[in-house]
Amino acid sequence: MSNHVFIFDTTLRDGEQSPGYSMDLNEKLQMAEMLDGMGVDIIEAGFPAASKGDYESVYKVSQQVKSATVAGLCRALHKDIDAVVNAIRPAHRKRIHTFISTSPLHMKHKLQVEPERVLEMIKESVSYARQHCDEVEFSAEDATRSDHDFLCRAIETAINAGALVVNIPDTVGYTVPEEYGALIKMLRNRVPNIDKAIISTHCHNDLGLAVANSIAGVAAGARQIECTVNGIGERAGNASMEEIVMTFRTRADILPFDTGILAEKIMPASKLLTQITGFAVQPNKAIVGANAFAHESGIHQDGMLKNASTYEIMTPESVGRDKSDLVLGKHSGRNAFRTKLVTLGFDFDDEELNAAFERFKDYADRKKKVSDDDLIVIASSKDGLPKERIRFVSLGVKSGSYGPQEAELELEIDGEKKKAKANGKGPVDACFKAMRVLVRHDDAILSNYELKALTSGSDAKGEVNIKLSEHGHSYSGIGVDGDVIVASVRAYIDALNRLLAGRNVLPVKKAN
Ligand code: KIV
Ligand code: ZN
Repeated sequence: MSNHVFIFDTTLRDGEQSPGYSMDLNEKLQMAEMLDGMGVDIIEAGFPAASKGDYESVYKVSQQVKSATVAGLCRALHKDIDAVVNAIRPAHRKRIHTFISTSPLHMKHKLQVEPERVLEMIKESVSYARQHCDEVEFSAEDATRSDHDFLCRAIETAINAGALVVNIPDTVGYTVPEEYGALIKMLRNRVPNIDKAIISTHCHNDLGLAVANSIAGVAAGARQIECTVNGIGERAGNASMEEIVMTFRTRADILPFDTGILAEKIMPASKLLTQITGFAVQPNKAIVGANAFAHESGIHQDGMLKNASTYEIMTPESVGRDKSDLVLGKHSGRNAFRTKLVTLGFDFDDEELNAAFERFKDYADRKKKVSDDDLIVIASSKDGLPKERIRFVSLGVKSGSYGPQEAELELEIDGEKKKAKANGKGPVDACFKAMRVLVRHDDAILSNYELKALTSGSDAKGEVNIKLSEHGHSYSGIGVDGDVIVASVRAYIDALNRLLAGRNVLPVKKAN
């Protein structure tokens, strides 16, 4: 048996089925181009019978894709199969993917059809699909909760009717690796014609086991994995393509399987998907999360500086990311601090370094983020950290649908209390205008403003992140408060204090 595992990507079908992740035609075409270019073997482009839009996108994806096989999903019904046949007609390589449930629960409550009738429907649909397309895949929906004897008969029927690929979905993400591996093994031992088909996995992530289950399936003899970029998909998602590909690469010693995926395209594909859908991946997501190659603790940073393999099992470059990130924060050590300062152009002796390190620790204790510009200010402030020149005192706003909105802001600036009033297009705009009256910073622009709720409910605390940019430098600020307008002002003050500290130290950079 070959060790090649086919990657069947269903980002555009199962992935798109997750709430809020729908993509328009243009976005699907962009994503399909990326998937084709990264070496995906089969792209499941949609479910043509589901809607006119789905039909259209499968058709257009079929016209565009150059290398991969294009698949369309359909129920075991002639009209659904016809829709796929027409939608994939322009593709160079095509596959009809038909499915029906085989678990007692689904047959009784969802299909309301007797098991014997399900077997007939499998035979009818697969042989009908084979009359129109050489490549037919059959999926036994809810296979992991199906009776084994019945599942064996369903798979045998599908292969006899002409299915070249038989998919064993863990539709509800219920199985565990040992059990799923045993299920694949059982099918290989008991289905008499199993050698005529490729076994496929399709695992959902409801218990966080989709990747582990898929890999157990391959170890037991499956040779196709159905997965999605960033693991998106129904409910908790599908098996994540990047995790599967990198598991095989990183643990080839015990999992000697290969895929045709160009791993350096993993990060670009992940980014494209987040841009298209507007959903970022969680920071600690394996392979593609913002923190997947970031190190803050001193011990880890020290190890990384000596030899990256101390704390990294793959290189960020191998998955198309920039180099590892040694994030300087309150857990960082002297070695990483010294290394960073050298890259920023400082040449300190031990005494200067120790003093700067103390200032840095003091600063990092109070701030969530320490940027390179903050480090330059810290390193340059040999007489102690710059004082926070501006402090929040009070704020009153007039807000609502009858504009203009007004703000009355009181700040303490260099120890002196000052007040200003301003109008704006909304209360936040009014506050930021009042800020500009109180502290002149005409060249600075607000280059980012983000607001998020830290908890749920109408009494949630709001966190605001902002960025001010001046003379080629960016200064971020964070503010948290039960009142989102006050949180906005606190974030602005945080950024403005950093800007004022940076102004005396940082060179003017031309914006590029
Ligand atoms: O999860 C599932 O069972 C599916 C099938 C349609 C393959 O998505
Ligand atoms: Zn699914």
